[in-house]
Amino acid sequence: MSELKKRDSFGSKIGIIAAAAGSAIGLGNIYRFPCEAGSNGGGAFIMIYLLIVLCLGLPVVIAEFVIGRRAQSNEVGSFRILSKGSRLWPCVGYVGVLCALLILAFYSTVSGWTIEYIVRAVQNDFSGKDLQALETDFSSFINAPVRPIIWQALFIAVTALIIFKGVKDGIEKYVKILMPLLLVLLIALCVKSLTLDGAKQGLSFLFKADFSKIDNDVILNALGQAFFSLSLGMGCMITYGSYISKSDRMSSTALSVVLCDTSIAIMAGIVIFPAAFTFGVSPEAGMGLVFNTLPMIFNQMYGGYFFCLMFFILLSIAALTSTVSLLEVMVAFATEELHISRNKATVCSSIIAFAIGVLATLSLRAGTSLSVGGMSFFDMLDWFTANILLPVGGFFIVIFVGWFLGKKVFVEEITNNHTIASKGKLLIFFLIRYVAPVAVAVIFISRLV
Ligand code: TRP
Repeated sequence: MSELKKRDSFGSKIGIIAAAAGSAIGLGNIYRFPCEAGSNGGGAFIMIYLLIVLCLGLPVVIAEFVIGRRAQSNEVGSFRILSKGSRLWPCVGYVGVLCALLILAFYSTVSGWTIEYIVRAVQNDFSGKDLQALETDFSSFINAPVRPIIWQALFIAVTALIIFKGVKDGIEKYVKILMPLLLVLLIALCVKSLTLDGAKQGLSFLFKADFSKIDNDVILNALGQAFFSLSLGMGCMITYGSYISKSDRMSSTALSVVLCDTSIAIMAGIVIFPAAFTFGVSPEAGMGLVFNTLPMIFNQMYGGYFFCLMFFILLSIAALTSTVSLLEVMVAFATEELHISRNKATVCSSIIAFAIGVLATLSLRAGTSLSVGGMSFFDMLDWFTANILLPVGGFFIVIFVGWFLGKKVFVEEITNNHTIASKGKLLIFFLIRYVAPVAVAVIFISRLV
C-alpha cells in the first residue's frame, strides 16, 4: 500500500481545474488546432472535431479521472492496482509513459520556438516587416540548428524545475494565475482579428462546413486532434486524477476542462483565420500559420509591441503547463514504480526527452535525412502519437472503465460514494461503455480499409 502514503494532492477545486486545463490548453490549441483545421478543410473538420470532443473526449476525461482517483497512483500503478494483478492492463500504462516521452520530445521543439519569439518580441523585431520577411526569418531560424536546440533545452530545464517543486507548490500555483490571463489576451486578439478585412472570409472558412471535404483521413485527424488537445489517451488525466480529492465533483471538473480547452481552440481559430485571409497566408501554411500570421496582426495593432510580447509569453506558459503534465506522467511513474527519487527521476526523464527532442528539431531542417516514410521525424512523432497511440490508449481506457471496473465502481466514483447527485452519470457510462470504443474502432478500421 506504499502508493497511498505521502501522495501530494491539489489544494483546491479551482487548482485542479486550472492544472488539468493547464495540461490540456497549450500549443495543441493555439498552434496545432489551426494547422489541422487549415489543412483539413476548415468548417467540416471543426464540426467533426466538436462532435468527437463531446461524445468521446468528455467521457474519456471522466474515465481517466475515475481510474486515477480510485487507484491514487501513477498510471501504470493505477492499472496494476485496479486490475488486481493482471499483467496486461498495466501495459496500457507503459505505452502511455512511452507516449508522454515521445510527445514531450517534439512538443519541446515548438515550445522552444516560443522563447525565440519572446526574445524577438522584446527586440521589436517584427515591426515593419512584411509577410515575406517574417517567413524568411522563421525558416532561417528553424534551419539554423543551434538556437532552436538551446531554447528547447532551456524549456525542458524550466519544466523540470517546476516538477522538482511538486504538485501543489509547483504546478498549481502557476497555472491558477496564468491561464485566465491567456484567456483575456485571446479575447482581445479575437476582437482585433474580427475587424480585419478578411474577417468574413476567415469566419466562413472556420464555420461553413463543406461536407465534400470529409474523408476518413479528416475524421482520423479530428480524432487525433481531440485526444491531443485534451491530453487524453496516455494517462495524463489518470495521473492528475490521482491528485484529485475524494470530495471533488469529478464530472463537473471534467466538463469545465473540456469547455475551457475547446473554447480556447475555437478562439485561436477566430484569431488566426481572419488574419490569414487578410494577409494572404494560406490556411494550409502549417507551422508558419501561427508564427508568421500573428506578428502581422500585432504590427497593425495599437499597442502591438505590448500585445505581441504578452502573447508569446503566455503561449510559452501555456506550453509549459502542458510539458509539466507530460513530464509529471514520467516522473510519477519512475518514482512510484521504479522507486527512484523524484529529483533523479526528473533529471533522467528530462535528459531522455531532450535527446529525442533534438532529433525532432533537427529533422525540420531543409534537406535532412531525419525522415521516416517521407515524413520528417518531427511530423512522424506528432502523427504517430496523436493519431495512433492516443486513440488506441483511449480505447483501452474506456474498455477498462466500461467493462472491467463496471458500472458500480463508476457510479461510486462519480457520486463520491453516493454522497452527491450526478444527473448525467448513466448517459456518460453509456458513452464510455459503448459509444467511445465503437467510435474509435470504426474510425480506425475505416481508415485502414
Ligand atoms: N494537450 C496539450 C496541448 O494541447 C498537450 C499535451 C499535454 C498532451 N499533455 C498531453 C497531449 C498528453 C497528449 C497527451 O497542447
